[in-house]
Amino acid sequence: MRDASPQTVFLKDYTPPEYLIDQVELNFDLHEQRTQVRSILNLRRNPQSQERSAALTLLGEELQLVSIAIDGQPLEQSQYLLDGEALIVHEVPQDRPFQIVIENIINPQANTALEGLYLSSSMLCTQCEAQGFRKITWFLDRPDVMSRFKTTLTGDKSKYPVLLSNGNKVGQGELENNRHWVSWEDPFAKPCYLFALVAGQLECVADEFVTMSGRRIALEIFVEKHNVDKCAHAMQSLKNAMRWDEETYGLEYDLDLYMIVAVDHFNMGAMENKGLNVFNTKFVLARPDTATDSDYEHIEGVIGHEYFHNWSGNRVTCRDWFQLSLKEGFTVFRDQQFSGDRTSPAVKRIEDVNALRTRQFAEDAGPLAHPIRPEAYIEINNFYTLTVYEKGAEVVRMLHTLLGAAGFRKGCDLYFQRHDGQAVTCEDFVKALEDANGVELEQFRRWYSQAGTPVLTVGQQYDAESQQLHLTIQQSCPPTPNQPVKAPLHIPVKLGLLAADGSAATIHYNGSSQAEITLNVTEAEQTFSFAKLPQQPVVSLLRGFSAPVTLKMERSLDELAFLLRHDSDTFNRWEAGQQLAVQVIFKLIDAIELSRPLQLEPVIVDAYRSVLTDSGGDLSYQALLLALPEESYLSGQMAIIDVEAIHQAREFVKKTLAEQLHAEFKQLYVQHHLDESGIFDAGAVGRRRLKNACLSYLSKLENEDVYHIAEQQFYSARNMTDQMAALSAIVNSNHPAKARSLDSFYMQWRQEALVIDKWFTLQATSSMPNTFATVQALMKHPAFDMKTPNRVRSLIGAFSQANPLHFHAINGEGYRFLADQVLALNTLNPQIASRMVTGLAQWRRYDAARQGLMKQQLQRIVATEHLSKDVYEIASKSLA
Ligand code: PHE
Ligand code: ZN
Repeated sequence: MRDASPQTVFLKDYTPPEYLIDQVELNFDLHEQRTQVRSILNLRRNPQSQERSAALTLLGEELQLVSIAIDGQPLEQSQYLLDGEALIVHEVPQDRPFQIVIENIINPQANTALEGLYLSSSMLCTQCEAQGFRKITWFLDRPDVMSRFKTTLTGDKSKYPVLLSNGNKVGQGELENNRHWVSWEDPFAKPCYLFALVAGQLECVADEFVTMSGRRIALEIFVEKHNVDKCAHAMQSLKNAMRWDEETYGLEYDLDLYMIVAVDHFNMGAMENKGLNVFNTKFVLARPDTATDSDYEHIEGVIGHEYFHNWSGNRVTCRDWFQLSLKEGFTVFRDQQFSGDRTSPAVKRIEDVNALRTRQFAEDAGPLAHPIRPEAYIEINNFYTLTVYEKGAEVVRMLHTLLGAAGFRKGCDLYFQRHDGQAVTCEDFVKALEDANGVELEQFRRWYSQAGTPVLTVGQQYDAESQQLHLTIQQSCPPTPNQPVKAPLHIPVKLGLLAADGSAATIHYNGSSQAEITLNVTEAEQTFSFAKLPQQPVVSLLRGFSAPVTLKMERSLDELAFLLRHDSDTFNRWEAGQQLAVQVIFKLIDAIELSRPLQLEPVIVDAYRSVLTDSGGDLSYQALLLALPEESYLSGQMAIIDVEAIHQAREFVKKTLAEQLHAEFKQLYVQHHLDESGIFDAGAVGRRRLKNACLSYLSKLENEDVYHIAEQQFYSARNMTDQMAALSAIVNSNHPAKARSLDSFYMQWRQEALVIDKWFTLQATSSMPNTFATVQALMKHPAFDMKTPNRVRSLIGAFSQANPLHFHAINGEGYRFLADQVLALNTLNPQIASRMVTGLAQWRRYDAARQGLMKQQLQRIVATEHLSKDVYEIASKSLA
């Protein structure tokens, strides 16, 4: 909690650590309310440090000190200073290595912040990234201090039969009073944020992986007994990830054991602790009847992500937390590549871009905008953002585009080889890519320091006489906090040209002829000319979404329909459909605001008809082509967001398409409504996606036939994808069996926490009337729990971040509700509390009445006493 005004930490103030800790020996005597920690630190001065003071400052929070000794000599109180954040020893040996032994006590049961050592259900586990290790014992808690850890865990044999930590098991034994101990040793030096321990009654699902060099690795997934039947997919995903990283990056696993533990209480998705990943159960557990196809994909993606961190994050780690995107942006890029290869690259790319544009673009355009390498923070936990992760991944993707796959790989090889065992910076990464390829990326580096989403404004001019096309591209970037003026970026823009019959027109540019090229946009304004074009081609720009920018280009509806039909680039084909829908919806929004009658443009009906009747093979892709742009994406396009008009216009399009293409939707639904539960190949997943997309349209018709179909599917479904899709159609319509279906679903799944999360979310995101009253009632439901982050996200998070219509109710009830919950969470779990503030951060984007109401709640939050740093930073910056 905050007493004085919180301190800001700056990148520019970085200095190397004064001391290093080569080796650590940790002993834990585990008890729920009183765990004793004995820590032996082997320290020495860092020759790289310029500082010349004799004192040593170790960081620690919420710890109770029992004793401290240097080289066997207990310290008197006058020899050190203790405050809430640090332990300062006034004098330590300067000319030789020395040893400090600290004994302290912690209370895991009281730890609801889920940082440090805490209790989740009946197991003990740790979370140390970013700065949680200091809640376990005093330490040099910073990533550029890397140590070899030996850990001994002692605990009750019945309560904690399984005792885990990083590395290899090196010893175990029995003790009196039904206690036992296990020792672990991690041969790789690591920063303390990668430390982990787990103790509990856990079942182990075991398998094996043989690496490319023939080493046998034991794979172990630990879960509570009732979850043993939901680990098979996670295990297969792990093996897939290990193989993929060998094949794609030439990277092999290094320890003999890889462990994953699934816990119910977790602030984030998962954590890459060396050899001992700790996962939110959400990203491990899956059975066909409990998890949707998307859940299956997310599990594989997150398992991959944490596994890939073993190289991009652990073997080569970050010098300081400002470099977070060095490991996160790179690892997200790697997991995106992996998921694309495992499923469909086209579909994966669209999903990623969709998430980026709806969520990260909003962050980049709001009061919390920051570069992927931030320059200052109050609370680092607030910087695990969409910008650092998702935009960070886009920046790595652009490097991949600029260097080509082979050049990128060469650069990565050099990076891992040059920096193995080191804590480095984003600059080191770019430098390795440059050196390996003999190129210069000076201007490109601005992506690391400049915040905001660049806008590309494109004009085209065709000259029939010279048979030339001239493309003029202007780039600009709106101001962001502390960055009023922006410099031009190096932006790779992929381009294709289409002839009138839809075929590719050859691009003659700078003496070469190709079907597709990448333009290097580097200046504020640049013109590119293409020759030998007897007819005016249709331009397909920013293919594959080759840069995280907003593209502004005049397009007619017919031109977009043409691209939707013919573009060979799967991303741009989808994008043409999206932009077609965006234009149509915005005309309707104008009509709504002027109280004019609504009419649907026939061109969109024709476009959808051709999508419905031409599968092209990839049914998941076809389902995406049918999805209208989300309300949150549409909001991003409006100067002043009109939540009601957006909702009404989009619903009108959806309903009218359902009416006019009723037969086509119904036919596709029937054709693909098969029972393929338990089958997860691309074909079965695609059929489910397409069928359920059709159901979602048909449910807008609100007739007996559709009610019947939905209810039928709900009760007969043997997989969660179909059951959820049917329940969603029921909940988001006036279906007469709504209450009964929700009750039945709850009774069916009340033992499965992750499924009950879905039940909460579905109700919280409903656009039907009375949703707010439902949300309030659900807050009092016996299954709701403020101490379980997944549950908080499934209700409060879902309502405030994924239900714009009701959250932004003009009477302000949604805003008041959210602020109440933020304040309640502030004392329990600051990280989760601060994430919930996001719903209010975009207040400047709304009309004056809503602005006032949102601002009032932010001010109320900031004025509250004992606010955590986490909430204070987000709320105060949102108001600034
Ligand atoms: N490093 C984790 C990941 O992205 C995320 C995380 C951060 C988890 C902080 C817990 C705490 O893989
Ligand atoms: Zn990560």
